Amino acid sequence: MKYLIYTTLMLLSLSIQADELSQTYSKHVDRQGNITFPTDFLMDGFVHLGSNTVANPETGEIFNLNSSYTQKAALVSYQKTGEWPDGTLIVKILKFVSGKKSLLSGQVQHQTSQDIAFVMVKDTENRFQHSSNKAIWGNGWGWAQFTDVKQPTVNTNQDKNYCQGCHLPRKQTDWLYTDIYPQMQR
Ligand code: HEC
Repeated sequence: MKYLIYTTLMLLSLSIQADELSQTYSKHVDRQGNITFPTDFLMDGFVHLGSNTVANPETGEIFNLNSSYTQKAALVSYQKTGEWPDGTLIVKILKFVSGKKSLLSGQVQHQTSQDIAFVMVKDTENRFQHSSNKAIWGNGWGWAQFTDVKQPTVNTNQDKNYCQGCHLPRKQTDWLYTDIYPQMQR
């Protein structure tokens, strides 16, 4: 009996994980290959891959805070196989922060009025190579930028070449800066 319950739970959790990833192409990408921002990602089983800051090299003043997230199922699968599974979403949120140190604690003050989001969607099937949106799909990923996560339906899709220009140095690690996000290392 115990064994049966355990097996059922295992199967259930595996199918929930698989569901989470297969939902990507019904919830966040439409048939034409338009990517929409996964607004509820924090409530939807995403895990934090890490954060980093960007500072002005002269003054040391921090002006960007970047944080990246992915579905738990995607990370578990990647940790096992070294491949990001189909349907993986990698969400990077860029916050503009003011680098002024507060007198008391040295904390930086966050200005969260407008966050920018970058989203990569894993596509192992080359689904959109003939679609009208083929400019944002390529090299195993869909590439999208959202200028204001509070209005996530306003999708300012950029051409993938714009993204890939900067991601090219990390082609060997599936175009991802795994060195910057230690959770992505295996
Ligand atoms: C000016 C260079 C530049 C451009 C343009 C750029 N990126 Fe990046 N991107 C980076 C760097 C550097 C990192 C790693 C550091 C960080 O996250 O801040 C990164 C990180 C990311 C991450 C987090 C995962 C990872 O690779 O570490 C995602 C997701 C991402 N970018 C998506 C995109 C998408 C989608 C576009 C185009 C719409 C894009 N980027 C355009 C430089 C760029």
